[in-house]
Amino acid sequence: MKIAVIGGTGDQGLGLAMRYAKSGEDVVIGSRKAEKAENAVAEIENILGHSMKNLEGLSNPDAAVVADMLILTVPLQAQRPTLDSIKEYVDGKILIDATAPLNSNIGGSPMEFIEVWEGSAAERTVAILKGKDVAVVSAYSNISSSSLMNHEKDIDCDCLVCGDDDEAKLKAMELVNKLPGVKAIDCGGISRSRIVEKITPLLIGLNIKNRTHYAGIRITGLDNK
Ligand SMILES: NC(=O)c1ccc[n+]([C@@H]2O[C@H](COP(=O)([O-])OP(=O)(O)OC[C@H]3O[C@@H](n4cnc5c(N)ncnc54)[C@H](OP(=O)(O)O)[C@@H]3O)[C@@H](O)[C@H]2O)c1
Repeated sequence: MKIAVIGGTGDQGLGLAMRYAKSGEDVVIGSRKAEKAENAVAEIENILGHSMKNLEGLSNPDAAVVADMLILTVPLQAQRPTLDSIKEYVDGKILIDATAPLNSNIGGSPMEFIEVWEGSAAERTVAILKGKDVAVVSAYSNISSSSLMNHEKDIDCDCLVCGDDDEAKLKAMELVNKLPGVKAIDCGGISRSRIVEKITPLLIGLNIKNRTHYAGIRITGLDNK
């Protein structure tokens, strides 16, 4: 299985690409510019201290073509143009959306949430990709890029996952569980993203208040029958 991180040159995408490449997955970083994606690969190799045969950099459309599972890591304002650029290549694939609709996307504070017409960023992805044979799952929006980039340490948080296609959601959760320290939590259908995406500005606020970059959440008691 090949994973494409679409918009993978930013903080979140780079962290996910590094973690998955480090754990042996085949990863391709996507960007609007292939050269920028290649530079991101070099940055990861520099951080890890060796070259990676299982990591490459391509344009977003080329990355979407070669991968089986797509992870979207772009800010809200880039969501539609980025999805439009790969739309042609998503049939038969799973797309995991990490987008969180933050007020900073429209010039405000990253500690504040903005409403999107469809209810959540993940549902907006579903609407943009309407008519395509793609299963959209939302995940990763409550994991900080700093925790992902801190690759020598396990990540101390759970990851809340939502999606309407149970089989696709299970596959996405398997991928999430490959992040060391992370437990994927099935939060239900894609509309549950309306709640989950609001946790991101909460965590950003906690980071600012506590002068850290690593705030995360754990859900407890689920096995306590
Ligand atoms: N950073 C975090 O800690 C974190 C945590 C949880 C959730 N998230 C969510 O994950 C997503 C990505 O976050 P991030 O911090 O990695 O974002 P970012 O660094 O701001 O952007 C990621 C990539 O998106 C592309 N991009 C940026 N602006 C664009 C535009 N106007 N049009 C088209 N492409 C554009 C760029 O790739 P190219 O220039 O290479 O095309 C950029 O490297 C966001 O929705 C964010 O809310 C982030």
